[in-house]
Amino acid sequence: MKRAGTIFSVLSLTLVLLALPSCTRRASIRAPIGGFALTSQRITLPYHGREFAGGPQASVANTYCLMCHSGGMVMTQPPLSLSAWKAELNKMKNAYGCPLPESDVDELTQFIQEQNQRGAWAEQ
Ligand code: HEC
Repeated sequence: MKRAGTIFSVLSLTLVLLALPSCTRRASIRAPIGGFALTSQRITLPYHGREFAGGPQASVANTYCLMCHSGGMVMTQPPLSLSAWKAELNKMKNAYGCPLPESDVDELTQFIQEQNQRGAWAEQ
C-alpha cells in the first residue's frame, strides 16, 4: 500500500515536470487558414491614478472598492440615499464577492456617499 503511494507520487511528479515546459512557453498560435498569425503582445494599460481620499475610510475604500473596477463606478452614480448606498455595498459583498468585512459596512457606506456627493478624487 505504501509502495503504491510512492509509485503514484513519483508518477505525478514526473507528469508535472513533463507538463511544466509547455506552461512557460510563450504562446504563439499560427492559424493555418486565413494567412494570419496570433502572437503574444505586451501592452501597458493606462492607469488613471485616481484613488479615494479624505479620511480614514479612504484606505478601506481603496482596498475593497478598486479591486474589480475603478472608483468611477461610485463617482458616476447619481446621488443616492444612505440606505441605497448601503444596499449597494451589500450587493458588492453578497452578489459579487467583495471581501469587505461586515464591521466596515456602515462607516464605509457613509464615506462612499460623501465621496459620491462631493465627487472627491485624489489626483496622483
Ligand atoms: C468582487 C468584485 C467587486 C468589488 C470588490 C466591488 N465591486 Fe462594485 N461592481 C462589481 C460588478 C461586477 C459591478 C457591475 C458592473 C456592471 O454592471 O458593469 C459593480 C458595480 C458597481 C456600481 C455600479 C452600480 C451597480 O450596482 O452596478 C457601484 C456604485 C459599485 N460597484 C460600488 C462598489 C463599491 C463602493 C465597492 C467597495 C465596497 C465595490 N463596488 C467593490 C464588482 C465589484
